[in-house]
Amino acid sequence: MLSSTIFLLVSLGAGLVKSSPTLEDLFLENAPSSPRAYVIPHYANSHAVTIDSQLYRFTVTGPSSGYAFTLMSTNAPSSDSLGVLPHIHREHYENFFALKGRFQLWAEKDGNEQQARLLTQGDYGSVVRNTTHTFQILDPDTEMVGVIVPGGFEDLFYYLGTNYTSSTDTPYVPTTYNDSSTSVDSETMETLESYDVFAQLDFEPRRDLINGTAPVNETTWHDGANDLGNAGEPYFVANGYGPKYLNSKYGYQVIQPLVTSTQAQDLNYTLSTISLSRQTKNSPPSYTLDGAAAFEVLEGMLSIQIGEYPLARLNMGDVAFIPAKINFTYYSEVAFTKVLYVSSGTDGVDQQLISGAEEWDFVTFPKY
Ligand SMILES: *[C@@H]1O[C@H](CO)[C@@H](O)[C@H](O)[C@H]1NC(C)=O
Ligand SMILES: *[C@@H]1O[C@H](CO)[C@@H](O)[C@H](O)[C@H]1NC(C)=O
Ligand SMILES: *[C@@H]1O[C@H](CO)[C@@H](O)[C@H](O)[C@H]1NC(C)=O
Ligand SMILES: *[C@@H]1O[C@H](CO)[C@@H](O)[C@H](O)[C@H]1NC(C)=O
Ligand SMILES: *[C@@H]1O[C@H](CO)[C@@H](O)[C@H](O)[C@H]1NC(C)=O
Ligand SMILES: *[C@@H]1O[C@H](CO)[C@@H](O)[C@H](O)[C@H]1NC(C)=O
Ligand SMILES: *[C@@H]1O[C@H](CO)[C@@H](O)[C@H](O)[C@H]1NC(C)=O
Repeated sequence: MLSSTIFLLVSLGAGLVKSSPTLEDLFLENAPSSPRAYVIPHYANSHAVTIDSQLYRFTVTGPSSGYAFTLMSTNAPSSDSLGVLPHIHREHYENFFALKGRFQLWAEKDGNEQQARLLTQGDYGSVVRNTTHTFQILDPDTEMVGVIVPGGFEDLFYYLGTNYTSSTDTPYVPTTYNDSSTSVDSETMETLESYDVFAQLDFEPRRDLINGTAPVNETTWHDGANDLGNAGEPYFVANGYGPKYLNSKYGYQVIQPLVTSTQAQDLNYTLSTISLSRQTKNSPPSYTLDGAAAFEVLEGMLSIQIGEYPLARLNMGDVAFIPAKINFTYYSEVAFTKVLYVSSGTDGVDQQLISGAEEWDFVTFPKY
């Protein structure tokens, strides 16, 4: 009698108390096939493919974000030639960010003068739709981070690339490659167009850069302020030279917008870096957004709690994805943490922080 009562209570309890999700549930190797909260560590497989010497990883994909955006990284050795044929995307807005190393980026649109920049750590290039663009990797330890809106563009790389597996998660495969030929046949060309890639075979990348920029005289590059571009124009922002805002509500946060609603237009997203001081007083707020969002750590360590998952700690290159309508809290336990932040919609964390912030001239926060 007693034992059957206990049995009944135990079974009831098991039915009522659902087990809390664990960190092991949160941390994934590959972006999932439908939106859910997750973290992918730097260099985890995340659907990796190689194209010649380049290794591509997709930490947020079309399927994992409900087609809001793709977040990807490219690790590759330096190369004597372009990393890709010059081309245009008609429907995808492509953002280039230098996580480390050096690469050159070219952009030309609407018959305006061709622009070229040398991007080093923290520099950013904004390739709006219908911009002819290409890049070249210039240093052995280079990682380009890409944000492409809307999501799903990774399908192109799945088509072009070779699946990659590794037990060491090496950033890229240490092999000597010959530069691949840059000619494409008409059939390939047609297939590429079905992936929103329109080759621009007449494009001649200029090589007359001085101090990291061409043209030389009318541009500001690592020697003065960079504004964000006008709607529909490609632009570049050197690390620390763009607009800055200081939010002092929950510790300090320096927000540096890279794309606002003005540049994104109908694509309805924003992109920023956020630098955080160590969390001391005031517990950080919980956010619940209408759109998907992601953080990629650039420096320091990000502490983030998503929904009912335990607190996760992310280091450089780690990515956290938060689907729409899922609550989260984030902060820094170390002195200086910087993240790249992207979110769907125009009221993400970056825009909310900016609306409660003052304009600020520095990349650092006050000493008290
Ligand atoms: C490559 O990996 C993808 C998943 O990322 C899988 O769907 C596909 O079948 C793989 N292709 C080959 C040739 O193994
Ligand atoms: C890009 O170019 C295509 C083809 O010329 C055009 O249909 C489309 O409207 C353009 N997109 C934007 C955002 O301007
Ligand atoms: C690279 O090209 C050279 C000369 O064409 C050839 O001898 C060599 O085998 C090639 N190496 C690879 C890795 O394909
Ligand atoms: C390149 O940078 C150096 C160092 O700042 C400067 O002295 C020089 O004038 C620059 N060259 C041009 C063409 O702007
Ligand atoms: C830049 O301006 C200087 C001085 O006006 C001129 O001598 C130089 O030729 C210009 N350089 C380029 C690349 O246009
Ligand atoms: C999210 O909401 C749930 C339910 O209200 C709560 O238990 C959890 O602590 C919240 N998580 C965060 C990170 O705010
Ligand atoms: C913009 O994105 C947000 C978040 O995903 C969504 O709620 C909103 O409806 C979108 N607005 C437009 C005009 O597409």
